[in-house]
Amino acid sequence: MRIDILTLLPRLLDGPFADSILERAQQNGLCEIHLHNIRDYTESKHKQTDDYQFGGGAGMVMMVQPIHTLISKLKAERDYDEIIYMTPDGEQLEQRMCNRLSMMKNIMILCGHYKGVDQRVRDHLITREISIGDYVLSGGEIAAAVLTDSIIRLIPGVMNDETSALTDSYQDNLLAPPVYTRPADYNGWKVPDVLLGGNFKVIEAWRMEQSLIKTRERRPYLYPPDLEGSRLFALHAAGGTDASALPR
Ligand code: ADE
Repeated sequence: MRIDILTLLPRLLDGPFADSILERAQQNGLCEIHLHNIRDYTESKHKQTDDYQFGGGAGMVMMVQPIHTLISKLKAERDYDEIIYMTPDGEQLEQRMCNRLSMMKNIMILCGHYKGVDQRVRDHLITREISIGDYVLSGGEIAAAVLTDSIIRLIPGVMNDETSALTDSYQDNLLAPPVYTRPADYNGWKVPDVLLGGNFKVIEAWRMEQSLIKTRERRPYLYPPDLEGSRLFALHAAGGTDASALPR
């Protein structure tokens, strides 16, 4: 998979992709991330990329020309599945969207700044607008890094233990259950006995139960969850859990 990120501040994105899972994914040839500085494509003498808004009002608007030139250049080189604009008024990012995007071949991500981009960019060049939440960041770069991370970690082979991406919170519209590691007793803070018993089916049933309880408490709008995924299967394999302990 290839991701092209179009930004006025490429340095903001150097860090997130230069370490850990995203760095390894690129080194192993599982994905390519290319940063493009929009300023390099302006035809203005003073390297201008933004201007005052028509009609007045505070804040600068990113101009069409440099963005159009850059997007046209990239589109001439390959086909893109999506050209995404990061914006707080876009559709809200959620796991299903990440899953689908992770199966694409080439995507472009445009980061906005100031008051955002000229509406004609959105009308004529963008295929999709995504927000990472109902709050406003100072630019689209951090949102683009969040989107990129959420997609790339799903590409088979990127995570060490491939199954771990499948058992994340949200994969079945369920929040993940609690996890513990050694020691089993730290200053009297004990790991639940069920996890120490070694009965895999009982452990899976307990985890499902914990996920359901947490989801109902913290994300009531995801409840009842869409249990198509592997963990419903695990629950069935365990012969069901104590139904009275499950949230209704
Ligand atoms: N740019 C600024 N705020 C944003 C947000 N919440 N999501 C996506 N892009 C943004």
